[in-house]
Amino acid sequence: MPMAIKTVSTTPFDDQKPGTSGLRKQVPTFQTPHYLENFIQSTFNSLDDYQGKTLVLGGDGRYYNRKAIQIILKMAAANGVGKTLVGQGGILSTPAASCLIRQYHAFGGIILSASHNPGGPEGDFGVKYNVANGGPAPEKVTSAIFEQTKSISEYKIAEAADIDLDSLGPTQVGDMAVEVIDAVADYAKLMEKLFDFDKIRQLLESDFTMCMDSLHAVTGPYAKAIFEQTLGAKAGTVTNGEPLEDFGGGHPDPNLVYAHELVETMFCENAPDFGAASDGDGDRNMILGNNFFVNPSDSLALIAANATLVPGYQDGLSGIARSMPTSQAADRVAEKLGIDCYETPTGWKFFGNLLDANKITICGEESFGTGSNHVREKDGLWAVLFWLNILAERQQSVEDIVVAHWQTYGRNFYSRHDYEGIDSAQANQLMAGLRSQLQTLPGQPLGDYTVAYADDFSYTDPIDSSISQNQGIRIGFTDGSRMVFRLSGTGTQGATLRLYLESYEPDESKHQLDPQVALKPLIVLADQVAQIKTLTGRDQPTVIT
Ligand code: G1P
Ligand code: ZN
Repeated sequence: MPMAIKTVSTTPFDDQKPGTSGLRKQVPTFQTPHYLENFIQSTFNSLDDYQGKTLVLGGDGRYYNRKAIQIILKMAAANGVGKTLVGQGGILSTPAASCLIRQYHAFGGIILSASHNPGGPEGDFGVKYNVANGGPAPEKVTSAIFEQTKSISEYKIAEAADIDLDSLGPTQVGDMAVEVIDAVADYAKLMEKLFDFDKIRQLLESDFTMCMDSLHAVTGPYAKAIFEQTLGAKAGTVTNGEPLEDFGGGHPDPNLVYAHELVETMFCENAPDFGAASDGDGDRNMILGNNFFVNPSDSLALIAANATLVPGYQDGLSGIARSMPTSQAADRVAEKLGIDCYETPTGWKFFGNLLDANKITICGEESFGTGSNHVREKDGLWAVLFWLNILAERQQSVEDIVVAHWQTYGRNFYSRHDYEGIDSAQANQLMAGLRSQLQTLPGQPLGDYTVAYADDFSYTDPIDSSISQNQGIRIGFTDGSRMVFRLSGTGTQGATLRLYLESYEPDESKHQLDPQVALKPLIVLADQVAQIKTLTGRDQPTVIT
């Protein structure tokens, strides 16, 4: 019997422009009739040459994940996809999905996640489309999808029963083959190839103590399988390891504010030697030592500097890339290694071309994202394993390793101040106010500093020459300090202003300063230039990293 396909009439929604990381909206928006379907059909409409090929599908387990997967399976069948690999229970971390797309030569993947945003019926949901290299769709693809969303008039969906997402093995949706696969196995094998599991096992079976907080999000099953079952970490090393549809009511973002349970464990007497957390979809990481926070920008630099200690990277790095607002600590490592360091706009999609062309091996963002050429997404557990491998080799504490790094390279004091959920009109006014000063600022004194440059960051991709403009306002000073202002592209309510601050300190005797103290003069100036307090009505940021 031929597959029954229903063609459903629809009209466009005007708000389906993908942001920094896919389309993110509140759950009720995605539940609006045709909303998800329009976006999925627009994605298929924007692609060619996928008929009969393989698609990877999974999500971070948040509310609406299972429902959306059943809908997407039926639409994939109706649109002629040959086979879909779906994670058991509908679960796939973002890096695991990237790994599977590459390994099984899929034409792409659909990852259902709103990353670190809260979940649940009133929380957020999201759809990310990844391309054949395993990475987030580049701008030309997301723009093409957006164009389709503006004129869509119908979508196709197979009339078929829901599949059992929990039973491993092959099944069928209409004419499309479906295989429910183990969400962890292939990813765990890839990790075993990159890292010295024997060394890490020795470390974890010694009196070394570790706490991995999965924040009730997707990394729970991965972390338990890798750390506890394979690497011999004590039972209970992984906390909050059951993925929950609402992340237990928490905000699955591994930073000092939202991962407070882990922070309390790590900042006390007799704290564990090593602490880590990951986000909703498993691509972010936070690294902590005993009473010590590792700034993500420093973590990127340190991973690069120590890469040859790790088997998968023992031949050295081809280059490093960091997003523009990320601190320049990585640049110093690249300089010492005699390799290139690229500066890209915010968002992982900008690393894809550089990785594919082997211009870089390691890349990262200040927003708790680090990764390498092993997949095309940032990878939270990869970063945790990288740190464990370094710790196992160096047999020093996290703090000693970071302090030694600063002694060698100098310290890039760094902080990000987020003003979440502010009024969009005021946020736009603030950015417009900054833009209006860009012409006159260069050469001017500002407090004790002199402005060297002021611009709105624009990036020309070195591989395909595509240009991305308006990627954040930078004000740089003659001593190398800088401040950057951007509006978030991942929030769903109001606007979020991100202020990034950086200064460089070569003098070792000053390395122990609190970054908020070291950066105080810049913090004051940022408010003066941008009128943050006046325009947002906020006295303080909501999150300080
Ligand atoms: C944020 C981070 C950015 C990251 C993205 C997806 O985007 O700042 O570095 O790539 O989430 O995890 P933003 O909200 O700033 O647009
Ligand atoms: Zn994420």
